[in-house]
Amino acid sequence: MALSSKRRPQIYNTVDDLRQFLNQSRQQGHTVGFVPTMGSLHQGHLDLVQKASELADIVVVSIFVNPMQFGPHEDFDAYPRTLDSDCDALSDCECDAVFAPTVREIYPKGVNTEIDVPGLSTILCGHHRPGHFRGVATVVTKLLNIVQPEIAVFGNKDYQQLQVIRTLVTDLLMPVEIIGADTTREPSGLAMSSRNAYLSATERDTASRLYASLQAIGEALKSNHQVTTTLREQRERLAAAGFVIDYLEIRDANDLSQSYVESETAVVLVAARLGQARLIDNLVVSLASK
Ligand code: PAF
Repeated sequence: MALSSKRRPQIYNTVDDLRQFLNQSRQQGHTVGFVPTMGSLHQGHLDLVQKASELADIVVVSIFVNPMQFGPHEDFDAYPRTLDSDCDALSDCECDAVFAPTVREIYPKGVNTEIDVPGLSTILCGHHRPGHFRGVATVVTKLLNIVQPEIAVFGNKDYQQLQVIRTLVTDLLMPVEIIGADTTREPSGLAMSSRNAYLSATERDTASRLYASLQAIGEALKSNHQVTTTLREQRERLAAAGFVIDYLEIRDANDLSQSYVESETAVVLVAARLGQARLIDNLVVSLASK
Protein backbone atom coordinates (compact mmCIF):
# COMPACT_ATOMS: atom_id res chain seq x y z
CA MET A 1 0.00 0.00 0.00
CA ALA A 2 1.58 3.32 -1.06
CA LEU A 3 2.59 5.78 1.61
CA SER A 4 2.12 9.11 -0.13
CA SER A 5 -0.89 11.27 0.54
CA LYS A 6 -2.21 13.11 -2.50
CA ARG A 7 0.17 15.88 -3.59
CA ARG A 8 2.16 16.92 -6.65
CA PRO A 9 4.93 14.34 -7.15
CA GLN A 10 8.60 15.29 -7.03
CA ILE A 11 10.13 15.42 -10.52
CA TYR A 12 13.58 13.88 -11.13
CA ASN A 13 15.34 14.53 -14.43
CA THR A 14 18.53 12.56 -13.87
CA VAL A 15 19.30 8.93 -13.09
CA ASP A 16 21.56 9.98 -10.19
CA ASP A 17 18.89 12.11 -8.51
CA LEU A 18 16.21 9.45 -8.89
CA ARG A 19 18.54 6.76 -7.52
CA GLN A 20 19.37 8.92 -4.52
CA PHE A 21 15.66 9.27 -3.72
CA LEU A 22 15.10 5.53 -4.25
CA ASN A 23 18.09 4.56 -2.08
CA GLN A 24 16.70 6.66 0.76
CA SER A 25 13.25 5.09 0.33
CA ARG A 26 14.74 1.60 0.37
CA GLN A 27 16.76 2.39 3.51
CA GLN A 28 13.41 3.17 5.13
CA GLY A 29 12.24 -0.29 4.10
CA HIS A 30 9.87 0.82 1.34
CA THR A 31 9.05 -1.29 -1.69
CA VAL A 32 8.94 0.37 -5.09
CA GLY A 33 6.26 0.15 -7.78
CA PHE A 34 6.91 1.51 -11.26
CA VAL A 35 4.67 2.69 -14.09
CA PRO A 36 6.57 3.51 -17.31
CA THR A 37 4.72 5.93 -19.62
CA MET A 38 5.32 8.29 -22.49
CA GLY A 39 3.20 10.95 -20.78
CA SER A 40 0.06 12.61 -22.15
CA LEU A 41 -1.57 10.85 -19.26
CA HIS A 42 -5.23 9.81 -19.26
CA GLN A 43 -7.42 7.85 -16.86
CA GLY A 44 -5.94 4.59 -18.16
CA HIS A 45 -2.48 5.63 -16.92
CA LEU A 46 -3.92 6.83 -13.61
CA ASP A 47 -5.51 3.40 -13.15
CA LEU A 48 -2.05 1.82 -13.64
CA VAL A 49 -0.69 4.16 -10.95
CA GLN A 50 -3.55 3.19 -8.65
CA LYS A 51 -2.74 -0.50 -9.21
CA ALA A 52 0.95 0.11 -8.45
CA SER A 53 0.05 1.99 -5.27
CA GLU A 54 -1.96 -1.00 -4.07
CA LEU A 55 1.06 -3.27 -4.49
CA ALA A 56 4.02 -1.13 -3.36
CA ASP A 57 4.89 1.58 -0.81
CA ILE A 58 6.45 4.07 -3.25
CA VAL A 59 5.25 4.68 -6.80
CA VAL A 60 7.51 6.04 -9.54
CA VAL A 61 6.04 7.08 -12.92
CA SER A 62 8.44 7.64 -15.80
CA ILE A 63 7.49 10.09 -18.54
CA PHE A 64 9.76 9.66 -21.53
CA VAL A 65 8.88 9.79 -25.21
CA ASN A 66 11.33 7.16 -26.39
CA PRO A 67 12.70 8.01 -29.86
CA MET A 68 13.98 4.48 -30.37
CA GLN A 69 10.49 2.99 -30.60
CA PHE A 70 9.27 5.34 -33.35
CA GLY A 71 9.84 4.61 -37.02
CA PRO A 72 11.27 7.31 -39.33
CA HIS A 73 7.80 8.29 -40.61
CA GLU A 74 5.94 7.95 -37.31
CA ASP A 75 4.66 10.56 -34.86
CA PHE A 76 7.71 11.07 -32.59
CA ASP A 77 7.73 14.86 -33.14
CA ALA A 78 3.94 15.21 -32.96
CA TYR A 79 3.56 12.98 -29.88
CA PRO A 80 1.93 15.15 -27.18
CA ARG A 81 4.34 16.32 -24.46
CA THR A 82 2.36 17.60 -21.48
CA LEU A 83 4.62 17.21 -18.43
CA ASP A 84 2.99 20.00 -16.45
CA SER A 85 -0.59 18.77 -16.79
CA ASP A 86 0.63 15.18 -16.36
CA CYS A 87 2.07 16.11 -12.95
CA ASP A 88 -1.22 17.86 -12.09
CA ALA A 89 -3.10 14.68 -12.96
CA LEU A 90 -0.68 12.61 -10.86
CA SER A 91 -1.32 14.91 -7.87
CA ASP A 92 -4.69 13.20 -7.56
CA CYS A 93 -3.00 9.78 -7.34
CA GLU A 94 -0.63 8.12 -4.97
CA CYS A 95 2.46 8.89 -7.02
CA ASP A 96 5.66 9.80 -5.18
CA ALA A 97 8.11 10.53 -7.98
CA VAL A 98 8.08 11.35 -11.67
CA PHE A 99 11.17 10.43 -13.65
CA ALA A 100 11.30 12.73 -16.68
CA PRO A 101 14.74 12.32 -18.27
CA THR A 102 16.08 13.87 -21.46
CA VAL A 103 16.94 11.66 -24.44
CA ARG A 104 20.63 12.23 -23.63
CA GLU A 105 20.13 10.97 -20.08
CA ILE A 106 18.69 7.68 -21.36
CA TYR A 107 20.97 7.32 -24.41
CA PRO A 108 24.16 9.09 -23.20
CA LYS A 109 26.30 7.53 -25.92
CA GLY A 110 23.57 6.86 -28.46
CA VAL A 111 22.29 3.35 -29.08
CA ASN A 112 25.13 0.84 -28.77
CA THR A 113 23.30 -1.97 -27.00
CA GLU A 114 19.90 -3.17 -28.08
CA ILE A 115 17.49 -5.61 -26.49
CA ASP A 116 15.72 -7.76 -29.02
CA VAL A 117 13.03 -10.35 -28.39
CA PRO A 118 13.02 -12.14 -31.73
CA GLY A 119 9.90 -13.83 -32.98
CA LEU A 120 7.44 -11.96 -30.79
CA SER A 121 8.84 -8.64 -32.03
CA THR A 122 8.34 -9.21 -35.73
CA ILE A 123 4.70 -10.34 -35.86
CA LEU A 124 1.52 -8.24 -35.69
CA CYS A 125 2.53 -4.67 -34.67
CA GLY A 126 6.18 -5.64 -35.07
CA HIS A 127 5.54 -6.52 -38.72
CA HIS A 128 3.88 -3.16 -39.37
CA ARG A 129 6.32 -1.16 -37.21
CA PRO A 130 9.77 -2.70 -37.85
CA GLY A 131 12.14 -2.02 -34.95
CA HIS A 132 9.35 -0.77 -32.66
CA PHE A 133 9.60 -3.55 -30.08
CA ARG A 134 13.41 -3.40 -30.10
CA GLY A 135 13.00 0.23 -29.05
CA VAL A 136 10.43 -0.67 -26.40
CA ALA A 137 12.47 -3.61 -25.06
CA THR A 138 15.65 -1.53 -24.91
CA VAL A 139 14.11 1.42 -23.09
CA VAL A 140 12.08 -0.74 -20.69
CA THR A 141 15.26 -2.67 -19.78
CA LYS A 142 17.06 0.62 -19.13
CA LEU A 143 14.15 2.00 -17.06
CA LEU A 144 13.88 -1.20 -15.01
CA ASN A 145 17.65 -1.07 -14.40
CA ILE A 146 17.38 2.53 -13.24
CA VAL A 147 14.35 2.13 -10.96
CA GLN A 148 14.88 -1.51 -9.88
CA PRO A 149 11.28 -1.81 -8.72
CA GLU A 150 9.72 -4.80 -7.00
CA ILE A 151 6.72 -4.52 -9.35
CA ALA A 152 6.08 -2.74 -12.65
CA VAL A 153 2.60 -2.19 -14.08
CA PHE A 154 1.80 -2.14 -17.80
CA GLY A 155 -1.54 -1.93 -19.59
CA ASN A 156 -3.08 -5.05 -21.11
CA LYS A 157 -4.17 -2.77 -23.95
CA ASP A 158 -0.65 -3.05 -25.37
CA TYR A 159 -0.97 -6.83 -25.28
CA GLN A 160 1.97 -7.65 -27.55
CA GLN A 161 4.19 -5.13 -25.75
CA LEU A 162 3.33 -6.81 -22.44
CA GLN A 163 4.30 -10.23 -23.88
CA VAL A 164 7.61 -8.81 -25.13
CA ILE A 165 8.34 -7.29 -21.70
CA ARG A 166 7.38 -10.45 -19.79
CA THR A 167 9.70 -12.44 -22.08
CA LEU A 168 12.70 -10.15 -21.67
CA VAL A 169 12.27 -9.95 -17.89
CA THR A 170 12.18 -13.76 -17.67
CA ASP A 171 15.08 -14.25 -20.09
CA LEU A 172 17.30 -11.60 -18.47
CA LEU A 173 16.45 -12.91 -14.96
CA MET A 174 15.32 -9.48 -13.84
CA PRO A 175 14.02 -9.43 -10.24
CA VAL A 176 10.76 -7.62 -10.96
CA GLU A 177 7.16 -8.79 -11.09
CA ILE A 178 5.39 -7.59 -14.21
CA ILE A 179 1.72 -6.81 -13.64
CA GLY A 180 -0.74 -6.48 -16.53
CA ALA A 181 -3.64 -4.13 -15.74
CA ASP A 182 -7.08 -4.07 -17.35
CA THR A 183 -7.74 -1.68 -20.22
CA THR A 184 -9.63 1.45 -19.22
CA ARG A 185 -12.40 2.27 -21.70
CA GLU A 186 -14.57 5.24 -22.58
CA PRO A 187 -18.32 4.60 -22.01
CA SER A 188 -18.49 3.90 -25.79
CA GLY A 189 -16.02 1.02 -25.36
CA LEU A 190 -13.13 2.89 -26.99
CA ALA A 191 -9.87 1.94 -25.25
CA MET A 192 -8.21 5.00 -23.70
CA SER A 193 -5.02 5.96 -25.49
CA SER A 194 -2.89 9.07 -25.82
CA ARG A 195 -3.28 8.74 -29.58
CA ASN A 196 -7.07 9.21 -29.28
CA ALA A 197 -6.13 12.92 -29.14
CA TYR A 198 -5.50 12.68 -32.91
CA LEU A 199 -9.18 11.76 -33.56
CA SER A 200 -11.85 14.27 -34.62
CA ALA A 201 -15.21 14.09 -32.78
CA THR A 202 -16.74 12.05 -35.62
CA GLU A 203 -13.73 9.73 -35.77
CA ARG A 204 -13.98 9.22 -32.01
CA ASP A 205 -17.54 7.92 -32.47
CA THR A 206 -16.41 5.64 -35.28
CA ALA A 207 -13.41 4.44 -33.26
CA SER A 208 -15.69 2.75 -30.72
CA ARG A 209 -16.56 0.22 -33.45
CA LEU A 210 -13.19 -1.43 -32.93
CA TYR A 211 -14.22 -2.80 -29.56
CA ALA A 212 -17.65 -3.79 -30.90
CA SER A 213 -15.88 -5.85 -33.58
CA LEU A 214 -13.65 -7.51 -30.99
CA GLN A 215 -16.72 -8.40 -28.94
CA ALA A 216 -18.53 -9.87 -31.95
CA ILE A 217 -15.51 -12.06 -32.73
CA GLY A 218 -15.21 -12.94 -29.04
CA GLU A 219 -18.83 -14.16 -29.01
CA ALA A 220 -18.24 -16.28 -32.13
CA LEU A 221 -15.14 -17.76 -30.51
CA LYS A 222 -16.90 -18.58 -27.26
CA SER A 223 -19.75 -20.33 -29.04
CA ASN A 224 -17.34 -21.79 -31.60
CA HIS A 225 -19.77 -20.73 -34.31
CA GLN A 226 -18.90 -19.09 -37.65
CA VAL A 227 -15.57 -17.75 -36.40
CA THR A 228 -13.99 -17.34 -39.84
CA THR A 229 -17.13 -15.72 -41.27
CA THR A 230 -17.42 -13.33 -38.32
CA LEU A 231 -13.76 -12.37 -38.66
CA ARG A 232 -14.25 -11.60 -42.37
CA GLU A 233 -17.49 -9.69 -41.74
CA GLN A 234 -15.90 -7.56 -39.03
CA ARG A 235 -12.91 -6.75 -41.26
CA GLU A 236 -15.35 -5.62 -43.96
CA ARG A 237 -17.44 -3.66 -41.48
CA LEU A 238 -14.42 -1.77 -40.13
CA ALA A 239 -13.08 -1.04 -43.61
CA ALA A 240 -16.53 0.28 -44.63
CA ALA A 241 -16.51 2.58 -41.58
CA GLY A 242 -13.22 4.13 -42.78
CA PHE A 243 -10.58 2.11 -40.92
CA VAL A 244 -7.43 1.01 -42.72
CA ILE A 245 -6.74 -2.29 -41.00
CA ASP A 246 -3.16 -3.38 -40.27
CA TYR A 247 -4.45 -6.63 -38.78
CA LEU A 248 -7.50 -8.13 -37.11
CA GLU A 249 -6.53 -11.60 -35.95
CA ILE A 250 -7.12 -14.32 -33.41
CA ARG A 251 -4.03 -15.69 -31.68
CA ASP A 252 -3.07 -17.94 -28.80
CA ALA A 253 -3.12 -15.63 -25.77
CA ASN A 254 0.05 -17.15 -24.28
CA ASP A 255 2.53 -16.97 -27.13
CA LEU A 256 0.64 -15.06 -29.84
CA SER A 257 1.05 -18.01 -32.22
CA GLN A 258 -1.60 -18.54 -34.89
CA SER A 259 -2.60 -21.94 -33.53
CA TYR A 260 -5.10 -20.72 -30.95
CA VAL A 261 -7.60 -23.52 -31.60
CA GLU A 262 -6.02 -25.97 -29.14
CA SER A 263 -5.30 -23.33 -26.50
CA GLU A 264 -7.39 -22.51 -23.44
CA THR A 265 -7.26 -18.78 -24.02
CA ALA A 266 -7.30 -16.83 -27.24
CA VAL A 267 -6.81 -13.15 -27.85
CA VAL A 268 -8.41 -11.14 -30.63
CA LEU A 269 -6.05 -8.33 -31.62
CA VAL A 270 -6.64 -5.36 -33.87
CA ALA A 271 -4.54 -2.48 -35.17
CA ALA A 272 -6.15 -0.03 -37.55
CA ARG A 273 -5.67 3.49 -38.74
CA LEU A 274 -8.46 6.03 -38.57
CA GLY A 275 -7.59 9.51 -39.83
CA GLN A 276 -4.28 10.48 -38.20
CA ALA A 277 -4.51 7.87 -35.44
CA ARG A 278 -3.24 4.31 -35.36
CA LEU A 279 -5.39 2.51 -32.81
CA ILE A 280 -4.80 -0.87 -31.18
CA ASP A 281 -7.03 -2.95 -28.97
CA ASN A 282 -7.57 -6.56 -27.95
CA LEU A 283 -9.96 -8.92 -26.22
CA VAL A 284 -8.87 -12.00 -24.30
CA VAL A 285 -11.35 -14.87 -24.64
CA SER A 286 -11.44 -18.01 -22.52
CA LEU A 287 -12.05 -21.08 -24.67
CA ALA A 288 -12.12 -23.48 -21.74
CA SER A 289 -15.87 -24.23 -22.01
CA LYS A 290 -15.86 -24.32 -25.82
O1 PAF B 1 3.48 1.84 -23.46
C1 PAF B 1 4.21 2.85 -23.48
O2 PAF B 1 3.78 3.95 -23.13
C2 PAF B 1 5.65 2.73 -23.93
O3 PAF B 1 5.79 1.81 -24.97
C3 PAF B 1 6.62 2.41 -22.77
C4 PAF B 1 6.32 1.06 -22.15
C5 PAF B 1 6.53 3.48 -21.71
C6 PAF B 1 8.06 2.36 -23.29
O4 PAF B 1 8.43 3.58 -23.86
